[in-house]
Amino acid sequence: MTKLALDRIVAAVQAALPAKTTRAALHEPHFGGNEWLYVKQCIDEGWVSSVGAFVDRFERDMAAYTGARRAIAVVNGTAALHLSLVLHGVRAGDEVLLPTLTFVATANAVAQQQAVPHFCDVDPSTLGLDPKKLDAWLQEIVVRKDGRCVNRLTGRSIAAVIAVHIFGHPAEVASVREVCDRFGLPLIEDAAESLGAYRDGRHTGTLGHCGTLSFNGNKILTTGGGGMLLTNDEALADRGKHLSTTAKVPHAWAFDHDQVGYNYRLPNINAALGCAQLEELDTFLARKRLLAERYAEALSGIPGIELLREPASCRSNHWLNTLMLAAEHAAERDQLLGALHAAGLAARPAWNLMHTLPMYRDCPRMELGVAEDCARRLINLPSGVALCPPAPQKGVS
Ligand SMILES: Cc1ncc(COP(=O)(O)O)c(C=O)c1O
Repeated sequence: MTKLALDRIVAAVQAALPAKTTRAALHEPHFGGNEWLYVKQCIDEGWVSSVGAFVDRFERDMAAYTGARRAIAVVNGTAALHLSLVLHGVRAGDEVLLPTLTFVATANAVAQQQAVPHFCDVDPSTLGLDPKKLDAWLQEIVVRKDGRCVNRLTGRSIAAVIAVHIFGHPAEVASVREVCDRFGLPLIEDAAESLGAYRDGRHTGTLGHCGTLSFNGNKILTTGGGGMLLTNDEALADRGKHLSTTAKVPHAWAFDHDQVGYNYRLPNINAALGCAQLEELDTFLARKRLLAERYAEALSGIPGIELLREPASCRSNHWLNTLMLAAEHAAERDQLLGALHAAGLAARPAWNLMHTLPMYRDCPRMELGVAEDCARRLINLPSGVALCPPAPQKGVS
């Protein structure tokens, strides 16, 4: 078997990036719009903390952008996930199904609710939950008791499913939703990485019962740290806002709290950054699409590798560009990572799969062969907005 042409791959990655790039991070924030202006406005006016006009505007703008009826701004994507689980009635000891190929926050949010992550396999074309395997697995393990789904292998209730849109590629959530509806399970979409990505014309995070976003510094749009809960359910949104605001009963001066709540409010100063970044989002997306095309062109024809492509009927946001090594080259992955790093290119492997982490090693799971195979063969390439060619100007031919 011939070995991967490491030098040729490194040269192709460099060729896709702006000339003279000597150091490329995996993903960096990009500030080129009204960020300073809006943050200064918060400081000038004294509204820097958990209430303020930018919080309201960011929620309104994000609902309008995604098409969700309501958007609730919170401190980060993990808090948004945890809040979603609370809102859907997940209790201590329940099981929540989620893909093993995800960032640790998805599983941690389940554990924070004292629930048990139950790991599922993914589809190789999206890297998101495989709806067929999910369906078959639920049919095998679920017994119905008093209207609940109970895992007959563990005796625990199954309370929810979380689908994750990995690296900005939409998972097959319409099919996952259909499976969840049949089993009466709420579907939460972890859209932390997929702002600006659509399946069948609908924004990721709006096809399930609720969705969550992250605005961490490594995401397409950043507020420093931040997150959002998206839902079309007005009552759920009202409860979410209340719980994320320490369950404070609104009153001009009295401090009354009617249940155990959370201080998950996004500060106004972070929301100010978010409003400015959202104004730039379409430009960021256009530039990232151009970078994906440049990578595709530069890397085409090199044996043993291929780029993960936008799934059918989808518009990916190209948050990260992903190189898949052919199965016979999986053992060369770390050599390629080393060669890319030696050239100043901060490429990264997939996260260690959740079922392999010490705290989740004993959690229930289905057979996870596809996720294990993909994780062995996957390398993410530098994908920040600053590395992308400028988007074509509107109205300029
Ligand atoms: C898939 C996924 N879920 C959840 C999160 C958590 O978001 P945050 O870092 O804002 O808590 C992230 C990223 O950080 C993520 O990539």
